[in-house]
Amino acid sequence: MKRVLIPVIAVLVAVSVLMGHASAQEVKTLRGEAGFSETNSAAEINQVIESGRFPQNYRQQPPLIPHRIDKYEIDLKVNQCMRCHNWQYAAKEGAPKISETHYKDHRTGQPMDDVVPGRWFCTQCHVPQVDAKPLVENTFQN
Ligand code: HEC
Ligand code: HEC
Repeated sequence: MKRVLIPVIAVLVAVSVLMGHASAQEVKTLRGEAGFSETNSAAEINQVIESGRFPQNYRQQPPLIPHRIDKYEIDLKVNQCMRCHNWQYAAKEGAPKISETHYKDHRTGQPMDDVVPGRWFCTQCHVPQVDAKPLVENTFQN
């Protein structure tokens, strides 16, 4: 039994390695050869819209940020977003408090006193609202 299995496994491994190689070669960029500056200039992206709110595009979408954020530092130790959005300061600053999901431990569901590590880097999910053109054409409708 073993004598048959080993060559079979060897062939399977070889085939999967070859297939992996072939599909890796087929990967192509959706944007084609065009550089960033040709499809969407940085100047446009810089125009954060600070009046009104963009509608949500889908139910689970993290709300867009209706203000500029370039001056607010976020690193391992500092998170300047929290000086307005943490529960202690929100009312005073007139800012919406981060929702309860942001205080909930991801693994245990336990409510915590402060924002949990998984929500620390706000801009992982939240981005300022800009009237940016899509980098590639698409048919998405909200
Ligand atoms: C100086 C106070 C202040 C700081 C600092 C601040 N914000 Fe805000 N933020 C506000 C206020 C005020 C609003 C509400 C604006 C409005 O309603 O037009 C707001 C709105 C938001 C919203 C929209 C929430 C919703 O319910 O639609 C998000 C998301 C947000 N901020 C994220 C951030 C992030 C991320 C940072 C850090 C990079 C940050 N904010 C830093 C004051 C602040
Ligand atoms: C993993 C993604 C993720 C991260 C990281 C994250 N958020 Fe959110 N945030 C969301 C989603 C999704 C919602 C809407 C659903 C909800 O409230 O949980 C939301 C809601 C909010 C709201 C609106 C709350 C309300 O009651 O309307 C604010 C304000 C906000 N986030 C601020 C922040 C700030 C500030 C940080 C960084 C400290 C942050 N978020 C980090 C995904 C995220």
